Amino acid sequence: MTRADAEAGTDDIPLAKPVIGEAEERAVLEVLRSGRLSLGPRVPAFEEAFARRVGARHACAVSSGTTGLHLALRAVGVGAGDEVVTSPLSFVASANAPLFERARPVFADIDPVTLCLDPDAAAAAIGGRTAALLPVHIFGYPADVAALERHGLPIVEDACEALGACHADGTPVGGRGHPAVFGFYANKQITTGEGGMVTLGSAEHKVRIDSERNQGRAPDMGWLDHDRLGFNHRLSDIACALGLAQLERLDDMLAARARVAGWYREALAGLVVERALVLPCPDANGDRRGWFVFVVQLPADADRDATVVGLRELGVQSKPYLPAIHLMSFYRERFGHRPGEFPVCERVAAASLALPFFPQMSEAQVARVAEALGRVIAA
Ligand SMILES: Cc1ncc(COP(=O)(O)O)c(C=O)c1O
Repeated sequence: MTRADAEAGTDDIPLAKPVIGEAEERAVLEVLRSGRLSLGPRVPAFEEAFARRVGARHACAVSSGTTGLHLALRAVGVGAGDEVVTSPLSFVASANAPLFERARPVFADIDPVTLCLDPDAAAAAIGGRTAALLPVHIFGYPADVAALERHGLPIVEDACEALGACHADGTPVGGRGHPAVFGFYANKQITTGEGGMVTLGSAEHKVRIDSERNQGRAPDMGWLDHDRLGFNHRLSDIACALGLAQLERLDDMLAARARVAGWYREALAGLVVERALVLPCPDANGDRRGWFVFVVQLPADADRDATVVGLRELGVQSKPYLPAIHLMSFYRERFGHRPGEFPVCERVAAASLALPFFPQMSEAQVARVAEALGRVIAA
């Protein structure tokens, strides 16, 4: 057993782990005892606290990041036959969301450093049918939204991975006035189990999304009259109470994630020099990442599947993350996508591996992961 093993223990190190404490338990219990489990006071309370946090005028709590993307695209007017320019390096939901409205996702390649949508590639993909741009703040790094704003098209930001990130001009991600969608799945910066939030600058969008998440009901309308098509994309009071408690500890959790990332950077420095391992890009030009995952790009000669198996045998979980969306079987079959269309994305996607990353991770655990990765890559 190595020194790192001894200090970090030998239990499996998971990929992610939410921080849930007594404050969350108390908040949820209070709701359960109140009897108002849905459509109660925690929903606006969570929305207002979240909007304040990212400097947005409004926010709508929704059942997931995916449903938030759907409602945000509807709000900016995306419909059948439209095109939405977006990134192929993302979780599949950002590309699927336009399809819910029979619009088409049009991919453009990514920047090789930030891994977000390349503004020049996006500009080249804009055409007569483009109804919106959908940048993704991937792995918590802020996409260059300012460059995309020059086109004057509606923008919907996928900020599901980017709570706590900040643009170079000091605007928090989610605070630029475009609909921006956050996700609260259990691995995110804050979690409600499942859930999401759409932040907005437009009061009109707020009214529309509030209604469409709630079966198309207008705020002043009785239960049985609905003036538009709607969905059940609501977030419960139980979930909102959990979200409020999580928001209280957000600064601490973000700081802890950043600290873990710093330990990784030091522990993996040798592999960067000796084996050309690529680490997440450091903050640059004033942009600031909201740490979400720690994704490395393996050396070209490393076998990623064998690396995952080797790490698992050493008690370290890891995951190929993220695959290129256009090469998923559904997208190949539906749209005829083929390898070679987006070479930067494809190269990054083929080499990427997410390592364990969560706020409670100790320096010894990081050392154990780094040591295991070194051993497996060398084998
Ligand atoms: C970039 C991105 N977009 C969208 C989503 C979808 O969010 P949810 O799982 O809450 O529907 C996620 C969540 O994993 C994500 O990482």
